[in-house]
Amino acid sequence: MTHIRKAVFPVAGMGTRFLPATKTIPKEMLTLVDRPLIQYAIDEARDAGIEEFIFVSAAGKGALEDYFDTASALESRLTAAGKTDALASLERTRMAEGSLCILRQAQPRGLGHAVRQAKHLIANEPFAVLLPDDVIKGKKGALAQMVQAHKNVGGHMVATMDVPLAETSKYGVLDVAQENGRLAHARGMVEKPNPNVAPSTKAVVGRYILDSQIFDRLDNLGPGAGGELQLTDAINADVDRVGVTGFLFEGERFDCGSVQGFVQATTAFALDRADLRDEFASFLDDRALRLRLVA
Ligand code: UTP
Repeated sequence: MTHIRKAVFPVAGMGTRFLPATKTIPKEMLTLVDRPLIQYAIDEARDAGIEEFIFVSAAGKGALEDYFDTASALESRLTAAGKTDALASLERTRMAEGSLCILRQAQPRGLGHAVRQAKHLIANEPFAVLLPDDVIKGKKGALAQMVQAHKNVGGHMVATMDVPLAETSKYGVLDVAQENGRLAHARGMVEKPNPNVAPSTKAVVGRYILDSQIFDRLDNLGPGAGGELQLTDAINADVDRVGVTGFLFEGERFDCGSVQGFVQATTAFALDRADLRDEFASFLDDRALRLRLVA
């Protein structure tokens, strides 16, 4: 089985659910505790053995590119001041030489169109796609879990989680042909089905391992929902040719592209930090108590 070496990070979306912040700040630079969303995605990819990182970016996303660049003046100052902890915190923002490639999507024509930009860099090998606004918290990275599982099944693999039936209309949902532990072999995917017609409660979230055959699907794809080129449509078209498997990852997913999901993620990650936990938890207790008293 081919080693998954490359990952595509589509970061060209407009982030309209997070306005006004995203008027000037790329959504992926919104910060959970003290790390921007993109850092969580890069860390997860590294943890899964990814060696080449491809950003599909857009105009106005300069902060995202600078974040992974050297900050010589800052680093010299921190060195001179002996601030070793602060210096060490920059370590994970350093990318190995030649490992980061930034492409531009000229117009936001959808996730499928964004992924298609990476065709010539991927060539003929399976690759990962990570949507940085889907943050997954768990003991083992979601992508690392998928890479492991993919060794046995190949084809296209999408990350799934079980959602309440009432919420299927918010997600792409798998039509499951056969389940085997964490794997669900799909007959297809349905975009945002109402609960009464949802084929399952397995929702697709923003981690994929794709066979490079996806690119000829993307090349020939017409506009889908919202007039955009949808990655879901291309994967769906490959059910018979390549095979599509849902992988039920272990972990908790937060939709950090939405304000509610982002606030919840901030709380969950802060409560996980030994240096913040106690004071923050008592602050939350106090707030919850006040809410109950008012109600
Ligand atoms: P979203 O559906 O979250 O869209 O994209 P968005 O524009 O980022 O945010 P909202 O809905 O307006 O608030 C899912 C992922 O696909 C990328 C986004 O950057 C995000 O990672 N994307 C989407 C692109 O790279 N290009 C596109 O044309 C559309």
